[in-house]
Amino acid sequence: MLAELAKEVQNCTKCNLAERRHTVVFGEGNPQARMVLIGEGPGEEEDRQGRPFVGAAGQLLDRILAAAGFKREEVYIANVVKCRPPGNRVPTRAEAAACIPWLFEQLKLISPRIIVLLGSTALQNLVDPQARITAMRGQWLVSKSGIKIMPTYHPAALLRDPGKKAPVWEDMQKIRDEYMKIADE
Ligand code: URA
Ligand code: SF4
Ligand code: URA
Repeated sequence: MLAELAKEVQNCTKCNLAERRHTVVFGEGNPQARMVLIGEGPGEEEDRQGRPFVGAAGQLLDRILAAAGFKREEVYIANVVKCRPPGNRVPTRAEAAACIPWLFEQLKLISPRIIVLLGSTALQNLVDPQARITAMRGQWLVSKSGIKIMPTYHPAALLRDPGKKAPVWEDMQKIRDEYMKIADE
């Protein structure tokens, strides 16, 4: 069960991010979500509250989801790493490798049909370390188990560069279309 897994992860010390975290940010949302969104890792506000995407990037993500017709409660939101990297640096490959097995267990329990990768950290750790978000965004990938995967820009990247809003909007339309297609299956 997802709640049991969450409890287990609260005590995790599998990587050095455990030393300076305040809270493990397990992830949250609908345990039966058809769509999971995966970011990079908790920031300061997430580390404080123990919830994913509740800071500035999270507020933008909420607006993006709402504009595409999704309720935040109907999807599930998680990250590549569950503990905040100091100073919001990108998690190292070793930290990501230590944490991703938790994410895989979580995904197995939720069993989504669609996974949205938010930004290059999610793309590189879940698909291909060499992959470029600018080249890969907006195109569907399919996992071995048939999950449809869409990489798009991270909301924090949109805050830095409003020029990324239009491509993310395009990507969200494709995601919405696919989501509607599987709604009745
Ligand atoms: N950025 C992320 O990648 N994840 C969060 O949970 C918050 C900000
Ligand atoms: Fe464990 Fe992940 Fe936190 Fe590292 S980031 S301590 S692997 S929960
Ligand atoms: N760099 C990132 O980290 N994320 C993006 O979405 C784009 C560039």
